[in-house]
Amino acid sequence: MLKVEGLNQYYGGSHILRGLDFEARQGEVTVVLGRNGVGKTTLLKSLMGVVPIKAGTVCLDGQDITHDTPYERVRKGVGYVPQGREIFGRLTVEENLRMGLAYKSGGTPIPAELFELFPILKQFLHRRGGDLSGGQQQQLAIARALAAGPKLLILDEPTEGIQPSIIKDIGRVIRMLADRGDMAIVLVEQYYDFAAELADQYLVMERGEIVQRGRGADMEAEGARQRMSI
Ligand SMILES: Nc1ncnc2c1ncn2[C@@H]1O[C@H](COP(=O)(O)OP(=O)(O)O)[C@@H](O)[C@H]1O
Ligand SMILES: [Mg+2]
Repeated sequence: MLKVEGLNQYYGGSHILRGLDFEARQGEVTVVLGRNGVGKTTLLKSLMGVVPIKAGTVCLDGQDITHDTPYERVRKGVGYVPQGREIFGRLTVEENLRMGLAYKSGGTPIPAELFELFPILKQFLHRRGGDLSGGQQQQLAIARALAAGPKLLILDEPTEGIQPSIIKDIGRVIRMLADRGDMAIVLVEQYYDFAAELADQYLVMERGEIVQRGRGADMEAEGARQRMSI
């Protein structure tokens, strides 16, 4: 579904991503692990086109999207849940969800499935996003990314600053979406146990490079946890 080749990224003179190569398959959760500052967010921003790609290619479902705008990528099926959620605090839950449908025609209904995944959003439909708890905002951010029916869902540290009960709910939804088989999921995490539970495939980043990778089932045996804690 997603194929990244030779991806390099720079901020000014600093080389942030160094020749990343990987694939994320449909029906799988690909976990990207790494400590603060190794380039995880920069990777997802590059996939989304929020920062222009300096070198390398990104293909979605066989189509080269390397130079597409974020808007075009959404249309082609990339859903992005940014770090820190970035929901619109002054807009209602409903309006936030509509933002996820912004490129479709005005009358497009919010998919009912989103409320099955996250019932709280239905209950709080007319509340302002800013009045939700952190965990509820995260659920809203995920639902917003799902509204357009993505083929690739990318999530940047969805557990950051969120209470354990909602982390469990979010984990269940991610597993369910992957098991449905029509979507590839790339999950960036620093919370090892959450990542390990969901990973079909894992990648560990250090200083802008992938330094270790394997199948999720082998993560523990291959010492991914130690890499995170050094
Ligand atoms: N807008 C920016 N301008 C300059 N440097 C940045 C910018 N954003 C991030 N960086 C630097 O790029 C590196 C990677 O950051 P980031 O991708 O956010 O890492 P991570 O998500 O793994 O914590 C860090 O050294 C960070 O300081
Ligand atoms: Mg980050």
